[in-house]
This record gives sequence, C-alpha cells and structure tokens, in this order.
Amino acid sequence: MTISERVKNINPSQTLAITAQALKMKREGKKVISFAAGEPDFGTPENIREKAISAIREGFSHYTASSGIIELKEAILEKLKKDNEIEYKTSEIIVSTGAKQCLFNTILTICNPGDEVLLPTPCWVSYTEQIKFAGAVPIFINTYQKEGFKLFAAQVKEKINSRTKLLILNSPNNPTGAVYEQEELKKIALLLLKYNIYCICDEIYEKLVYDDAKHLSIASLGDEMKGKIITINGVSKSYAMTGWRIGYAAGPEEIIKGMSKIQGHSTSNPNSIAQKASVEALNGKQDAIEEMRKAFDERRKYMVERLNEIEEISCLIPAGAFYAFPNVSKILERGIEYNGKKINNSFDLSNFILKEAEVALIPGSAFEAEGYLRLSYATSLEDIKEGLDRIEKILKY
Ligand SMILES: Cc1ncc(COP(=O)(O)O)c(C=O)c1O
Repeated sequence: MTISERVKNINPSQTLAITAQALKMKREGKKVISFAAGEPDFGTPENIREKAISAIREGFSHYTASSGIIELKEAILEKLKKDNEIEYKTSEIIVSTGAKQCLFNTILTICNPGDEVLLPTPCWVSYTEQIKFAGAVPIFINTYQKEGFKLFAAQVKEKINSRTKLLILNSPNNPTGAVYEQEELKKIALLLLKYNIYCICDEIYEKLVYDDAKHLSIASLGDEMKGKIITINGVSKSYAMTGWRIGYAAGPEEIIKGMSKIQGHSTSNPNSIAQKASVEALNGKQDAIEEMRKAFDERRKYMVERLNEIEEISCLIPAGAFYAFPNVSKILERGIEYNGKKINNSFDLSNFILKEAEVALIPGSAFEAEGYLRLSYATSLEDIKEGLDRIEKILKY
C-alpha cells in the first residue's frame, strides 16, 4: 500500500494515544486515573440537552447550510459583541465540526507551501501537524517557565521575515495555562499590521480564567486589526460539549469564504442537532460556566500545591484553562532506573507513571516542551488526590 508523503509527515496525536492506552488498561480491570483528557468532567447542561432533544423531535435532521445555520451565526455574533467587544456580520462567521476544524480550514485557506507560521511554544499538539499538512513551516517561539510562559512582542518580532504569513496565539494557553498580558498583545497587534501578518486567536479557554487574569480578544482593537485576525472559539470547553463537535471562526469575509469552500467539499455542515443545541448554549442561561470554573479553580489550587510538595518538581499556578504543567527536568536529570534503562525524557516518564502508578498524563514533548508533564485537573478532587498520592510515591527519591 502507498501512503502519501503528506500523511507520512504527520505525527499521530500523543494525547489521543495515551488516552487510548489508559482506556485499554481500564478495560483490563486496572484502576487507572486519568489526568490526560482535555475535557471537562461535567455533563452538558440540561437546558442545552433539552434543545437537542426538541430538535430531534421536530425532525431537524437534514443538511443545513454548509457554513452553519443563520440562527447559530446570529447567536455567535451576539456573543462576540457582548463578551469580546467585536462586531461582525454573519458573512464573517463559519460554524465547523469543532474548533479543530476551524483551525484546519483557516491554516489551509491562508498558507501556501513554504509559508512560515509563528507558533509560541509550549503549544497544543495539533497546530504543528496542521501547519505541516498545509505544506507550511512551523517556526517556534519559546516561552519560559521563569517568565510565566508569557509571550513578548520582541520575541515575535525577532522571528518575522518575508516568508512569515501567520501567527497562532492561544490564550489562555493549553498546556501552560498562561494568559498573555494585554499590553504585550497590543504590541503584537501592531507588529501584525506593520508586517502584514495574519493571526489566529484560539480563544477556546476564554471563560476559564482565575484570580485576576483577564482575557483580551485582539480583534477588538479596531477595524484595521480585525482585518488581520481570525478569532476561533467553540462550545466544547465552556459548556462541557466536547462530543457535540461545534466550533466557530470569525474573520475577514474573504478568508471565511475560503474556509467555507474547503468545508463544503469535505464535511459539509456540522451536525444539525448539535447546532441547535449550541444556539441554546450561547443564548441560554450561563450559570453552568461559573459552577465549572469554580470547581476547576479549587482543583487547580490543590493540584499545584501537591505537585510543588514533590521534591524535584516545580509548577507555576496556571491563570487559565484546566491544566497544570510541572517542570520535571530534575527528575529526568536524576534518571529513574526502569526496565534496565534510565528515564531521561518526558515520554518515557509518562509511560513509567502510567504503567507503574496507573495514572495517565501527557509528556511535555507532545507540546514541543521537553522536561514537563501536563496534568488535566478537569477531573474529581478525589481522583486528583489519589492520582497525586500515587505519583508522589513512585517519584520519591
Ligand atoms: C487549544 C485548543 N484549541 C482547540 C481545541 C479543539 O477544540 P474542539 O473540541 O472545539 O475541536 C482544543 C481541544 O483540546 C484545544 O486545547
């Protein structure tokens, strides 16, 4: 069988691979605790589920407009106006099968082979592979634990050249939980205008911010700025709707049109029932978000405190999303003996923790950040406590 070069170049998702391995162990009867999954452990709020049931009963089961139903686009417009202070027209909105498809369509629409895409790291696993799939080249901009994993305009400027086409910003960030400083974002926005660079703002974790962190949508910084930004968001994380697969993008009409062309020939419309449910998510009562956020906040504090109690681990308190991102480089330098080998990378360390402590988590290498682990705290406090007890025990000097 001949597999295309394009597919050969794509690395499989390490997050999905570890989640699958943990599920397999669970099926074998092992009591695996998972800190691997990137999704809330809450159910979708009742009012949203009810709207989906009504949509089924009313027979809303046909193809819809490929880029999404008008009712949902209008709900998105209102949301962007109210929460993010950005005004769009429905022709500047597309609804897709998850924010993931919006990202894929945007990158394919903007990038030609050889174009450079600036990507701050640590970064979410799929950006790099989607950029490569488009034939474009990811150019990493490292952010550092000692600087709170913040991104600075000067670092972006340093990487810009005539091939730079796109910058991807993800704040609040997966995996670090960093929320970028508003002043730096404003400076970065000016660079985009000066050097004519497009920017994807992946705002999927916008509602999950803690303490005094504030999210800023840079598309709100004026009309000229809006012409360079594709704001991407969705219902997965804010409304515990990961399985419903609804995401959306807002941006310049020409780009949205390009994305619609790709979608029209690949998946067509996102699921009709899920679109109706998403209208309710955006227009209905919002209290479930605050309930989830408060629960995550409590777990966040507990998890980070416990991680920092483990000798050789240092972990920042994340300002957003639902992940802790501890630095384990000292443990890797020490090199735990396992199966006749010394563990000296985060992938082997994750594997060791999964096999020996039956706790699933994701290696930093999946996020272009060797020396770290990612633990999701979107799971019960009870599991967090038990999982950390197990990790502490096997990592003891
Ligand atoms: C940073 C980031 N962007 C996008 C997505 C994709 O979200 P969706 O479920 O809407 O496809 C995820 C999911 O984990 C994510 O972490």
